[in-house]
Amino acid sequence: MTINPKQLSGERAAEYVEDGMVIGLGTGSTAFFAIQKLGQRIAEGLDICGIPTSEQSRVQAESENIPLIDFGKVTRIDLTIDGADEFDPNFNLIKGGGGALLREKIVASLSDREIIVADESKTVAHLGAFPLPVEVIPFGWQAIQRLLADLGCHPALRNAQDNTPFVTDNGNYIIDCDFGRIDNPPALEAKINALCGVVECGLFIGLTDRIIIGKTDGTIEERILE
Ligand code: 5RP
Repeated sequence: MTINPKQLSGERAAEYVEDGMVIGLGTGSTAFFAIQKLGQRIAEGLDICGIPTSEQSRVQAESENIPLIDFGKVTRIDLTIDGADEFDPNFNLIKGGGGALLREKIVASLSDREIIVADESKTVAHLGAFPLPVEVIPFGWQAIQRLLADLGCHPALRNAQDNTPFVTDNGNYIIDCDFGRIDNPPALEAKINALCGVVECGLFIGLTDRIIIGKTDGTIEERILE
């Protein structure tokens, strides 16, 4: 049987979920396995509520009969399980490859704990091999793209499969910004988020305390923030 490293990490993360918790449900092909496992555990009696980070994860959670809740009813999330596009040794992340970075970052910032699930390909020494997704307001996106270029990147508007602009769950656009190696993620995050028209960028700093890495040899590595 072929080993799926994403399945290994996603399912391991679901083991950290306990009765009574409010769980942030991440987005992507790795978080998918955590949500699937939570659905199985709920069928066996686990009692939790979930807050999805995208329409995609909402649809999956509903199909798994995971009860959903919103911020009108809770102020904190006990634990969020989400994927990442890259992570460095300091637990800085790039997220947003799936276009869900804004809701993912809101949910992460309101979570007591965030577990990142990934395969080995997401491990990097320095962020920046993966172009940084930046969610922007559609109005004036060309001007915002020029301001992003002035920060030292090669920006590209993300397109959907039909070659029209990709539209996020929030009705915004994504500009993927190739900065090359990012030496100072917090400073770059501050500069990008200060631009008028930028809604949020995919740098996640200080939001993660555990990373679970599934490997092709069937083992799992867990990294905990010291
Ligand atoms: C979506 C994300 C995803 O978590 C990230 O792209 C990783 O996805 P996958 O697990 O499919 O590799 O940030 O916005």
